[in-house]
Amino acid sequence: MSMAIPPPPLLPLLHLVALAAMLSFSLPAAIAIDLRILHAFNPFSSLHHPDPFSPSSFEATLLSLTSHDESRLLALAATTTSHARRKKAAPGAPIASGRLLLQTPTYVVRAGVGTPPQPLLLTVDTSNDAAWIPCTACAGCPSSSPSFSPANSSTFQPLPCGTPLCSQVPNPSCPSATDGAAACSFSLTYGSSSLQASLVQDSLSLAADVISGYNFGCLQTVTGASLPPQGLLGLGRGPASLPSQTRPRYAATFSYCLPNFRSLNFSGSLRLGPAAKPRRIHSTPLLANPRRPSLYYVNMTRIRVGGRPVRIPPEAFAFDPSTGGGTIIDSGTMFTRLVAPAYEAVRDEFRRRIKGGGAVTFLGGFDTCYSGAAVKVPAVELEFEGMRVRLPEENVVIRSSSGSTLCLAMAASPGNVNSVLNVVASMAQQNHRVVFDGAGGRLGIARERCT
Ligand SMILES: *[C@@H]1O[C@H](CO)[C@@H](O)[C@H](O)[C@H]1NC(C)=O
Ligand SMILES: *[C@@H]1O[C@H](CO)[C@@H](O)[C@H](O)[C@H]1NC(C)=O
Ligand SMILES: *[C@@H]1O[C@H](CO)[C@@H](O)[C@H](O)[C@H]1NC(C)=O
Repeated sequence: MSMAIPPPPLLPLLHLVALAAMLSFSLPAAIAIDLRILHAFNPFSSLHHPDPFSPSSFEATLLSLTSHDESRLLALAATTTSHARRKKAAPGAPIASGRLLLQTPTYVVRAGVGTPPQPLLLTVDTSNDAAWIPCTACAGCPSSSPSFSPANSSTFQPLPCGTPLCSQVPNPSCPSATDGAAACSFSLTYGSSSLQASLVQDSLSLAADVISGYNFGCLQTVTGASLPPQGLLGLGRGPASLPSQTRPRYAATFSYCLPNFRSLNFSGSLRLGPAAKPRRIHSTPLLANPRRPSLYYVNMTRIRVGGRPVRIPPEAFAFDPSTGGGTIIDSGTMFTRLVAPAYEAVRDEFRRRIKGGGAVTFLGGFDTCYSGAAVKVPAVELEFEGMRVRLPEENVVIRSSSGSTLCLAMAASPGNVNSVLNVVASMAQQNHRVVFDGAGGRLGIARERCT
């Protein structure tokens, strides 16, 4: 798996900022001030520029953000068959964009691992099942980043090979087939990195929810630098995921609201269980693909631009378990990807409907950019079976900070194995409550401002 521009190594300074982020729960302003000095970590440097969206760094910023997605999309294609074998809503756990906190264009949730809870910012990933967390003895984990100390948790337990979950994690390995008491470990690749983790159990705290006996990977060996530095929370649909492990308690249901990716605040939230569901919400059936059991497939049927349905060949959206084709909702990809014929049709209609902005330009991997302050962006609406989602402008275009340049924040799926997959990505989900109802087999989306 290749990644054109890998995420940067974490520097000690960043560690301080991440720590400050965790400790100063009520002081987001302090983070903003500290981040002013986080610049020039090549090659992702534009993300750390004092203003990555200023006209001078806008293009480089777009390039680094899209390159993260490219490797993500390859990873999504790779997560196939191997493990196929086998009330009043609580406020929820705080979510923030990891863009500045952890130099990763994904979202992180504030979590605690162990007893007493050790704070970590876990990347929210709806397309992976197993969670993994850097543990103290990890070789290759960034030393500048906090890690979990099993020795300091009174509830920590390694899991033996005989445990049922050991056959459901990716590439499980045990010293011998007969030694059920030996420690279970697993390995996988993620982006351009690979990891090996031992399967362990401990308590996971998410806001007021304490999940005891949660099974996850304690990182032992990591190569490459593209892992979420403080660990990943797997919210996929497979047996090793958090929703599956806690099914009796939360009915495989969770929801989140992702704040605008530019926000520095932990103003988003992750809620567990059906109580999290807003009363008024439209939903669409989830489709199960046995070849990609982790992914949340939905039936996208149409896209409207400026109120008019775009003419898209029906096969562009067709759900096909044998090729992996169809549409997924994903929290870990930033920009929505459509298979080429669908993207081109949407883009062409968008170009016809936009008002002002002069000639179309290419910028940082996007092919539909305009300049000028008075550009009027047409409405974009995604239609799913039984649900229509009208996207506000912040979900459709990405703007430079002066507002003078904007780009349609979508692209064609990369022309490779993944060219059959449409991905409704995080930017299209910002400031919406997205409800994943695994037990009811539905996905709901409602506008919610978590800024
Ligand atoms: C465990 O906690 C103690 C006291 O808080 C701390 O000094 C020590 O470094 C921790 N151990 C590890 C391995 O992190
Ligand atoms: C963060 O929250 C504060 C108040 O809680 C608000 O004033 C500020 O605008 C927010 N910042 C961002 C970037 O959303
Ligand atoms: C998707 O929705 C369309 C329109 O309702 C329907 O004809 C089609 O059978 C659905 N596809 C799947 C895989 O459910």
